[in-house]
Amino acid sequence: MGARLQGKVAVITGGCSGIGLATVRRFAEEGARVVVGDLDTTHGPRVAQEVDGLFVECDVTDAEQVEALFRTAFDTYGSVDVAFNNAGISPPEDDSILTTDLDAWRKVQEVNLTSVYLCCKAALPYMLEQKRGSIINTASFVAVMGAATSQISYTASKGGVLSMSRELGVQFAREGVRVNALCPGPVNTPLLQELFAKDPERAARRMVHIPMGRFAEPEELADAVVFLASDESSFITASQFLVDGGISGAYVTPL
Ligand SMILES: NC(=O)c1ccc[n+]([C@@H]2O[C@H](COP(=O)([O-])OP(=O)(O)OC[C@H]3O[C@@H](n4cnc5c(N)ncnc54)[C@H](O)[C@@H]3O)[C@@H](O)[C@H]2O)c1
Repeated sequence: MGARLQGKVAVITGGCSGIGLATVRRFAEEGARVVVGDLDTTHGPRVAQEVDGLFVECDVTDAEQVEALFRTAFDTYGSVDVAFNNAGISPPEDDSILTTDLDAWRKVQEVNLTSVYLCCKAALPYMLEQKRGSIINTASFVAVMGAATSQISYTASKGGVLSMSRELGVQFAREGVRVNALCPGPVNTPLLQELFAKDPERAARRMVHIPMGRFAEPEELADAVVFLASDESSFITASQFLVDGGISGAYVTPL
């Protein structure tokens, strides 16, 4: 057990699965008090109990629920030092622009992009008052690269998360609040497994482009989030923090 986040209070959305769950565990190992905000009431209480933290049922598209999430963190533990705004979806009906209808487009924009706006808006007043805070918003490598295996609304939502994070990082840089966009490459989580189980050919096509020749494990992303949340990254803000196995730097990958 380390102490890199000792004394910090962290809110993590989407903390019941995948990258969020791995981060909940790593944060607790590093001494943070963790508040998990998620829709998943089946796993949520158990996840929170495991780390001696708090579960708050929260739909991140709902402004009141998001405000209540951050208020609960502050009222229970006395500060809001870290916001890992990570909940997101990648549904199969979001596909090529030619076949994705407006409802599918809007749903993904709400859960992936509007949610990050709401979480930042709710977290910032606490952080500005304290004059310290680290916000980490989960974008994706698709925010910086195009894919022929398109998910048009997902990609557009992550581009929005990246540019919003950059702007907030710049706006609040002199007020002690850092804002960074975490840009994972493909990660071995239910979100990706679900998508690729339906389309193994798509999975194989994506693997070819990863220099490391594999997907990331959620714990590898959690380690990056610990760094961005901790004071070790004190001069890093407004960044696109790529944790992508080299994808964004590759032209031709090794065989
Ligand atoms: N897995 C990947 O390859 C990958 C790559 C790049 C970026 N990402 C991003 O990382 C983040 C986490 O992805 P993951 O793979 O860990 O996903 P996951 O499906 O394993 O977990 C997502 C979590 O978010 C929660 N959630 C979904 N909708 C919600 C809502 N409206 N309100 C509250 N909680 C909600 C789910 O209940 C779940 O616990 C997402 O933003 C995703 O877009 C994932």
